[in-house]
Amino acid sequence: MLNRINPQVRTFKQSGIRKFANEAKSILGVINFTIGEPEFNTDERIKEAAILALRNNETHYPPNPGLEELRRAVALFERDHNKLDYVWEEVIITNGATEALAASLMTILDAGDEVIIPSPMYVSYGPMIEVCKAKLIPLNTTNYNLQIDPAALEKLITLKTKAILITSPNNPTGTILDRRSLAAVSALAKKYDLFIISDDVYSQLVFTKDYEMLCHDESLRDRLIVTQSLSKPYAMTGWRVGYVLADLPIARAIALMHAYLVAGITTFNQIAALEALKTDSTWMCDSYHKRRDLAYEALMEMGLTCVKPEGAFYLFPEIREFKMSSEDFCIKAMREYKVAMVPGIYFGADHNVRISYAVSDEDLTEGLRRLKQMILDLRKHDSI
Ligand SMILES: Cc1ncc(COP(=O)(O)O)c(C=O)c1O
Repeated sequence: MLNRINPQVRTFKQSGIRKFANEAKSILGVINFTIGEPEFNTDERIKEAAILALRNNETHYPPNPGLEELRRAVALFERDHNKLDYVWEEVIITNGATEALAASLMTILDAGDEVIIPSPMYVSYGPMIEVCKAKLIPLNTTNYNLQIDPAALEKLITLKTKAILITSPNNPTGTILDRRSLAAVSALAKKYDLFIISDDVYSQLVFTKDYEMLCHDESLRDRLIVTQSLSKPYAMTGWRVGYVLADLPIARAIALMHAYLVAGITTFNQIAALEALKTDSTWMCDSYHKRRDLAYEALMEMGLTCVKPEGAFYLFPEIREFKMSSEDFCIKAMREYKVAMVPGIYFGADHNVRISYAVSDEDLTEGLRRLKQMILDLRKHDSI
């Protein structure tokens, strides 16, 4: 019966990240830079809130778009932390940003529509768009310092373009979009009447004061969809709580899609999420900031080219000089030098590898030492 399933789904492959992460786990003593999640555990207060909620039998169906208390808390949080002006009815609690993205894309996309996404990009966007029988149009940013070239973006817009999706800070590069990039997205979305999806899951993990968010532009309100998550800032990847922020008519449409997709998000996890929003997790960001400095400096010492990331917990150095595919480079690093990274090809850039530095300081130092050794050996070999 396999030939009877949705042909789009038949083309899906296991995420390359998982494939590498799984092999890395099976190698004794490997330093694992593949995983895109905080190594910290969830704060005890958040866990206690969930335990108490379970004891109080908060185990029944939640309202489809989320508990009103949590939606109100999110609206307040966004107002206080990001100066965003959304009322609680414009907040939909989702199964992480993953479902926030899927529900948003399924709500706005028609068969044949096109979605432009700066590349390198997060791996899940493509399959979600394809399932909607729409098309992902990548905008290569590798020749533009990982920023958006306004002219190149406009060139990709056709009558079929429905949306531009941006991620800042970005996965896999950690870069944040500058003012010029954001202005281009904003102006062109208005000019061609496009939606903007702003996948802001790393917005609390930023190391510079120069960070701008498109959602501050009120004139974009009716076309902007923000997807958010508690996964990264609160070390809550396994809890599966995120949310969508959108102008009321759009939020209502997404809420319907969300209701039919997942019915709602685990009730006691939503109660724990309320506690998370009260928790100060800036120390996690500070620790990533320190590690970014350490890792970036080490890559510079190795003589690798890398755009300095200003957020998230990734570095995306270039490996072009070694004349190997990113997969071959990562396989060699993992099997021979016991340091596991993700090939850039999985994100759309075969001359790079992704290093996640969401690991302990000791692992970071040791993993970078191993990478340095590999690079020294490769260069030595080249010069023979
Ligand atoms: C850019 C980006 N968006 C969305 C997600 C999904 O996050 P969540 O755990 O909230 O589903 C991730 C996870 O790695 C991500 O990197």
